[in-house]
Amino acid sequence: MAKKIIKKSWAEPFKIKVVEPIKLTTREHREKAAKEAGYNTFLLKSEDVYIDLLTDSGTNAMSDYQWAGMMLGDEAYAGSKNFYSLWNNVKKYYGMPYFVPTHQGRAAEHMISKILIKPGQYVAGNMYFTTTRLHQELAGATFVDVIIDEAHEATNEHPFKGNIDLKKLDKLVQEVGAKKIAYISMAGPVNMAGGQPFSMKNLQEVYDYCKTHKIKLWFDATRATENAYFIKEKEKGYKDKTIAEILKEMCSYFEGLWVSAKKDLMVNIGGFLTTRNKKVFEEARNMVVVYEGLHTYGGLAGRDMEAMARGIEEMVEYDNVRMRIKQVEYCGNELAKFGIPFVKPIGGHAIFLDAKRFLNHIPQNQFPAQTLATEIYVDSGVRGMERGVVSAGRDPKTGDHRYPKLELVRLTFPRRVYTQAHIDVAVESIASVYDERKKIKGLNMIYEPKYLRFFQGRFEKK
Ligand code: F0G
Repeated sequence: MAKKIIKKSWAEPFKIKVVEPIKLTTREHREKAAKEAGYNTFLLKSEDVYIDLLTDSGTNAMSDYQWAGMMLGDEAYAGSKNFYSLWNNVKKYYGMPYFVPTHQGRAAEHMISKILIKPGQYVAGNMYFTTTRLHQELAGATFVDVIIDEAHEATNEHPFKGNIDLKKLDKLVQEVGAKKIAYISMAGPVNMAGGQPFSMKNLQEVYDYCKTHKIKLWFDATRATENAYFIKEKEKGYKDKTIAEILKEMCSYFEGLWVSAKKDLMVNIGGFLTTRNKKVFEEARNMVVVYEGLHTYGGLAGRDMEAMARGIEEMVEYDNVRMRIKQVEYCGNELAKFGIPFVKPIGGHAIFLDAKRFLNHIPQNQFPAQTLATEIYVDSGVRGMERGVVSAGRDPKTGDHRYPKLELVRLTFPRRVYTQAHIDVAVESIASVYDERKKIKGLNMIYEPKYLRFFQGRFEKK
């Protein structure tokens, strides 16, 4: 009897209209390029990269609908039409009345940190993010990580590793008092944990706790649609809800949120903050003219705001989010066939290779993840980034390296850019580096900038 065909394949919900050539270089060329870049993938020239999995930030392919919107850019200094179309969509999909555009996410982080934090206060969050924590620290706060312990374990398969541990949060509140907590900074999915989501149940519990203790709750909604997708897939009661409905419900628990539009919104530049707190909005609207530009453009061209407005409509389409997450999942499943260690469960925007297990002969003070990112680049021109001790930086009080439990290389997927064939090439390269791993030696850091050292730090081979 003929076997019944099981239809389980998925495909991209688009076809390709414009292409950008990329070229494969020789190993010799890449060895030279890596050395010149101080063994830091952030310092490579992009033309020396074959498949660029450095980040999903601003590296997305816009749709024809977004490009068409670019032609409708109203480049007025004040009151551009595109500002209003963006504001309308922010209101419609995130559900908050007030809105300030910024040129990217960290500009919004900067303003929110300055507005909400009094020096000496604390910010509690579900794991740090590099720029987010730095702005909180620069505004005078101490960041306290209150994510569940499972998030720090690469092999733990907890379905919602982005959850906040309410006991940890309560311990902090008991120690310092609720008045000393500037706000809770909740991100979803959690980038540094491996793109891991929080559950709606956890968010509701955090919301109740914050309400009881009169603590503000703010949201880094940079990749919120991916969090919504995971809630739909994994959490009871959400299977039949749309991504837009889940997003709206998530946002309803927060006083305000900020977004790097370079991710979910599938544009190349942009960010914003939105809130239901009129006072915070008024301060931000005033501050934005100092740092970014008038409050109706916030450092963006009118056309950029139009592309963002249209990106919001596309980001909540189920097929778009699903395709994205399935692509990451495909990469993980292929890597698993070679026994390559990476963070489980597979997260939203990236695969995070576990450099501690991949290069278990290299101690953390010789930067195993930095080393691994370089080795993969030299092997095939595939560019990932370090997310370990270099990214964690130094403790501002002691000046020592912060040694995170997770020492990872992130392979991040720009939206709508690469095909399954690109992924196959990347996987084969990583597998061949894995085969030769015992020959790999660690790195020394020879230049270290004061802030966000992973961007510009330089290394040499041991
Ligand atoms: N929040 C999260 C969760 C982010 O991932 C980023 C940026 C930001 C805030 C800051 O936004 O770059 O627009 O200023 N993440 C990029 C990345 C850089 O590669 O993960 P930005």
